[in-house]
Amino acid sequence: MVDLLIKNATLPDGQTGVDIACDGGKIIAVEAGIAAGAGQVIDAGGQLVSPPFVDPHFHMDATLSLGRPRMNTSGTLLEGIALWGELKPLQTVDEIIERALHYCDIAVSMGIGAIRSHVDVCDDELKGVTALLEVREQIKDYIDLQLVAFPQDGVFRDPTAMDNTLRALDMGVDVVGGIPHFERTMAEGARSVTALCEIAAARGLMVDMHCDESDDPLSRHVETLAYETTRLGLQGRVAGSHLTSMHSMDNYYVSKLIPLMAEAELCVIPNPSINIMLQGRHDTYPKRRGQTRVRELRDAGLCVGFGQDCMMDPWYSLGRADMLDVALMGLHVGQLSSRADMTWCFDAVTQNSARIMGLQDYGLVKGCDANFVILQAKDPIEAIRLRATRLHVIRKGKVIAQTPASVAALDLPNRPKAIDPSQV
Ligand code: FE2
Repeated sequence: MVDLLIKNATLPDGQTGVDIACDGGKIIAVEAGIAAGAGQVIDAGGQLVSPPFVDPHFHMDATLSLGRPRMNTSGTLLEGIALWGELKPLQTVDEIIERALHYCDIAVSMGIGAIRSHVDVCDDELKGVTALLEVREQIKDYIDLQLVAFPQDGVFRDPTAMDNTLRALDMGVDVVGGIPHFERTMAEGARSVTALCEIAAARGLMVDMHCDESDDPLSRHVETLAYETTRLGLQGRVAGSHLTSMHSMDNYYVSKLIPLMAEAELCVIPNPSINIMLQGRHDTYPKRRGQTRVRELRDAGLCVGFGQDCMMDPWYSLGRADMLDVALMGLHVGQLSSRADMTWCFDAVTQNSARIMGLQDYGLVKGCDANFVILQAKDPIEAIRLRATRLHVIRKGKVIAQTPASVAALDLPNRPKAIDPSQV
C-alpha cells in the first residue's frame, strides 16, 4: 500500500506506459505495471508526467507591481531600473510579501516547483530581503525558493550596497549576486566580480550575476567571471545570467571565451522573453536579437537553463508564470527547431535549471521527492507547442493544484485519451 500511484505516464525521455509509486513524499518505484494498492490513484492516460518546472531567474520583490508608481513609457531596461528606484522607497515589507505570495499561488498552479529570485539589496532597510525571507519560509511546502543578494545599483556604484549585500547574506540569503556591467567603469565592473566571488568562496556560497546584460560587444565581464570561478575553485557553483553581450561579440573572441567558460563549468541563464524585448533597442535595422549564444554554449558542455526574469513589473508588463512560454520564446529566438533541440528546450526549464539551482532529489527516478506535474500533452514538444494545461501539480506525493483539461487541445487529431476526472 502506497500513498499515491500514477498510472500510465509518459516520461520526458520518451518512456511510455510507466507507473510511478510514491510513499512518504518520495518516489519509491518507476516502472510498468506496479500492482500496489494506493491511497490515491491517478490515471495519467498516457499524458506527459514531468518533474516540476524550475525558474532559475526571477525578481519576486518586483513582481505584480505593474503601474506602481507609474508605467514604463519607453519600455526600456534603463527606464525600468529608474522606475524600480522610484517604487522602492514607497513599498512596504507587507506589500512585497502580499505580492510575492500572490505570485507563488500562480506559480504553483503553473507547475513551478522551484524559483531562484534575485532580491534587491540597494535599500538600506532591506525591505525586499526581509519580505522574501518570510515568503521563503511560508511557501516552503509548495515551492523551493532560493534568494540571491542582488545589488541592483552596482555593488561599488551604490555607496552602501556592499555592506547591504553582506547584511543580506548574514540574514540568510542563499546566493551572491552582482551586476558588473552597471558599475561605473569596465575596471570597476571587473573588480566587483572579483570581490563578490571572493565573498562567495569565503562563505561557501553559489554565485549568480546579472552579467553583460548589454548590447555592447566589449562588455566582457563573463571572462572575469570565468577566470575568478576557476581561480577560486568555484566550478559548477557560478551562473552568468543574461550574457546578452555575447550575442554581439566578435566571433574570434568568442572562440576563446566559450572554452574558458566551459573550463570554469559556468552555468548560463538566458531570459528569452525579457532579452528579446529589452535588447537591441539602440539598433535600427537589422536589429539584434539579444539572446546569448545558447546553442554554442550548450554544445560546449555548459549547463543552460532558461529563466522568466519578470512578470508584470517595471521591466515587463506581460508574463504568466508559464515556463513553457519561456521555453517557446527561447526556442524561437535561438532557432532551436530540430526535434532534439525542441526537447532540449523543455529540459532548459526543468532539469537543467534544477541543476543550476543545486536542487537535491529532483527528478523522476526512485528516491527523488515525489514532485511532478501531469501535463495535457503527449511529449515535451507538444507541451511547449500548446503551453500545455497543468492537469495535476503534485508535491511530496500530494496534489496541490489541478486545472481542467483544455477542450480546444483535445480536438486535435491523434491525441491521447484525456484523464477521467472521476478516477482522480
Ligand atoms: Fe534579472
